[in-house]
Amino acid sequence: MKLPCSILVVGSGGREHALVRALLQSPAKPRVVCAPGNAGIAQDVACCSVAADDIAGLLALAQREQIEFVVVGPEVPLSLGLVDQLEKIGIPAYGPKAVGARLEASKIFTKQLLLKYKIPTAAAGCFSEVAPALAYLRTRPIPIVIKADGLAAGKGVVVAQTLTEAEAAVRAMLDGGKFGSAGHQVLIEDCLYGEETSLLVVVSGRDYVTLPTSQDHKRIGDGDTGPNTGGMGAYSPAEVVTPALLERIDREIVRPSVDAIAAEGIEFRGTLFIGIMLTPTGPSVLEYNTRFGDPETQVVLPRLATDVLALLWAAARGELTTITLAVKPEAALCVVIAARGYPDAYPKGDVIAFPPAATLPPSTFVYHAGTAKNSSGQIVTNGGRVLGVTALAPTLRAAADRAYAACDQITCAAKYFRRDIGARQLHRQ
Ligand code: AMP
Ligand code: GLY
Repeated sequence: MKLPCSILVVGSGGREHALVRALLQSPAKPRVVCAPGNAGIAQDVACCSVAADDIAGLLALAQREQIEFVVVGPEVPLSLGLVDQLEKIGIPAYGPKAVGARLEASKIFTKQLLLKYKIPTAAAGCFSEVAPALAYLRTRPIPIVIKADGLAAGKGVVVAQTLTEAEAAVRAMLDGGKFGSAGHQVLIEDCLYGEETSLLVVVSGRDYVTLPTSQDHKRIGDGDTGPNTGGMGAYSPAEVVTPALLERIDREIVRPSVDAIAAEGIEFRGTLFIGIMLTPTGPSVLEYNTRFGDPETQVVLPRLATDVLALLWAAARGELTTITLAVKPEAALCVVIAARGYPDAYPKGDVIAFPPAATLPPSTFVYHAGTAKNSSGQIVTNGGRVLGVTALAPTLRAAADRAYAACDQITCAAKYFRRDIGARQLHRQ
């Protein structure tokens, strides 16, 4: 398989930094550019200041740079049809077209698909009017989950602990305009209990390759407390997913999902990220995303021995059956350093001081997310999630020790991170 020589990565987070680093590792030695990137990505490759949702700007950039392959990180350009538009100008891309991105962009669309194809998922009702939504609420057990239908940057889900809280969430979304048009319809879903796991599946039509298992830490605080975030850390493998359980997930969820999507006439080439709750009665789908996870990507990609460029290119070309996945035996763990205050208001522009690379623990990668350069050339915070400090090691404990040692070497006034990434699995060992 002839691999592309010039690649554009779209996005600016830790996920995109991990993608850029993985692509640079390819034996094909491609030229990689990133739009818009961040201060850390700019240390590795050329970054162009075109926003990830500027479809016309990205198309022009891809043509100007003679890009042969585009790898799309975030969901917004996917749902805006970036991949459809690239195809029209003859540039192949990794990521679904807009119709496939609906699996993330509409929770109601996904719930209908899951129910139609009898894929395990929580019972739910879908509403656009307040009165029937409130009436339905009163018939369901509490806690109950209220979800805005559309994209809400990971903030459109309320796990309501009381009926009052549930009613307030429904009113805020349907009447109050919370989340704008994303909240014009809501899904009211029964609460599932158990441990969550993220499964990243590289899909190409009816073919797929399941990447190593991982687990995210969604809450801001230690011990899974406080509000939900985009993800405060991750580790891989998630040993709670035993080989037997993975086989069951494949049989009951992954294969049926890939087949259902194809049966609906959606030609899906990209990452199907399946959020799964491991309930006492079996695995159940929480959601689909149609892109790599963040920070899951930062722990999954470093564990691949397979050329990531060959994997993504094969998926985009419909040649995924040529790929055999090789996974390193090491464990990976990523600690997200956030700006204190996140996921609410947080400061920007705090200077970050990094230790010299040579003093970092071995096999440690500092992926940048919300970073920028100030006018003095210093690297400063520029987002809620700032860095993803990842380490690879023979055991999860050693990976945690390395990642935390590196976190302690990085100084920044607004630095905040969880101290217990991986704790659930470490306590089981
Ligand atoms: P989602 O964006 O749909 O994955 O929801 C975000 C988070 O809300 C999930 O990662 C879960 O922690 C939680 N959540 C979503 N749906 C449910 C559910 N039915 N039961 C319990 N927790 C849920
Ligand atoms: N880590 C969860 C996500 O990427 O949506």
